[in-house]
Amino acid sequence: MAEPTFRAPKGTRDILPPESGRRRALVDRFADSAALSGFGEVVSPIFEDLGVFKRLGESTDIVTKEMFDFVDKGDPPQHLALRPELTASICRAYAEHRPIPPWKIWYEGPQFRYEQPQAGRYRQFTQVGVEILGADDPQADVDVIALGARFFESLGLRQVTLMVNSLGDESCRPAYMEALTAYLTDRVGDLSAQSQVTLERNPLRVLDSKRDEDQSIIDAAPVMVDFLGGETADHFDAVRSGLDELGIAYEISSRLVRGLDYYTRTTFEFAATALESAQNAVGGGGRYDGLVEDLGGPATPGIGFALGVDRILLACDAEDVFAAPGPSVSVFVVDVTGGSVALDACQRLRAGGIGADRAYGGRSMKAQMKVADRSGAPFAAIVGEDELAAGEVTLRDLRGESGQRRVALDDLVSDVRSLLSN
Ligand code: HAM
Repeated sequence: MAEPTFRAPKGTRDILPPESGRRRALVDRFADSAALSGFGEVVSPIFEDLGVFKRLGESTDIVTKEMFDFVDKGDPPQHLALRPELTASICRAYAEHRPIPPWKIWYEGPQFRYEQPQAGRYRQFTQVGVEILGADDPQADVDVIALGARFFESLGLRQVTLMVNSLGDESCRPAYMEALTAYLTDRVGDLSAQSQVTLERNPLRVLDSKRDEDQSIIDAAPVMVDFLGGETADHFDAVRSGLDELGIAYEISSRLVRGLDYYTRTTFEFAATALESAQNAVGGGGRYDGLVEDLGGPATPGIGFALGVDRILLACDAEDVFAAPGPSVSVFVVDVTGGSVALDACQRLRAGGIGADRAYGGRSMKAQMKVADRSGAPFAAIVGEDELAAGEVTLRDLRGESGQRRVALDDLVSDVRSLLSN
């Protein structure tokens, strides 16, 4: 094959059938489970004022290195950015529309991060997620985490680990930050060059380092859960006992700091252990009790998560679960009379709710039968000169289960329906 003139940009890809059908089925399943838990969908813009995303943290990679931002053609021009995630957009929408809390919403859509692409890490990827705004109750945290855990189970995934942590809040985090900064500063000479820079910007994020030379220092570092104040400790206890009550397995991971700065109290991540560890986070989330206010809205607690659809499908491949849905057409109409029977038969079948397809271009019986086989349709409706004269079609079982027989064109829909229900 000749080299194409253009390819999809680096870090992006075309998702073609049948994989696109699998992706759609996954998103639909998520939509169903979110709706069953009382969440409504929000569709928000793919780009926002850059300021919305700056709230994700001036020291995060997402803001400093990975933003797809641009200046528009307005007068004065506006500095915009493609969204790298949806939580900030949802909080912006909450501050703008002031819905009645608690506001329970779900979303799906593409996100954009200028990352170094590799397996499971793209510059355009799809997330599904939920957020609850206006509920401080730890049971909201449990409900949200349970929705994620049950969703992975419903796909058939067995190797997904849930890690939870608490990052405290403004009442207790400063004391922890002080202790952590003092601890890391004492050992700065032994940290990797990268972590030395990170330490200057945000000591918490040093705990995220995967570099070998940092590990022993990180392992012995002070942990946030030892610094939780009365209320944040009670909240974390209540989340844990709620998860226990629902029988949801989890690990407490005191190193879980997440890559965004807005988190307070509960944070969590789902890791698919069947994937390479660098890209095995299939979802994550937590509380962000200050974000709505930060975006100009009323003080409003928030909790939610986002799951990475592309990575979940890789995890499904690795565990050999959640196969692509079967063929979408049930009948392939093969018409060698050159007339309009194929048009008519397809329309009748589709109007009756039965998937139907056909070949184009008046090809031979053999060529059309080949396409019929490739379509995966269980039945072919064949129209030759004899059938045409009799107002009939030959209905053939392409799976070889029930042979073939002639049926009146007028009975085609009901006959196929009864065959399909057998
Ligand atoms: P996040 O951890 O940045 O959180 O992203 C959530 C998930 O999106 C990740 O666990 C991963 O599965 C997927 N993901 C992230 N980056 C990429 C990439 N470059 N390629 C493929 N998949 C990727 C958030 O986005 C927060 N908004 C989650 C949240 C919602 N927190 C509270 N509410």
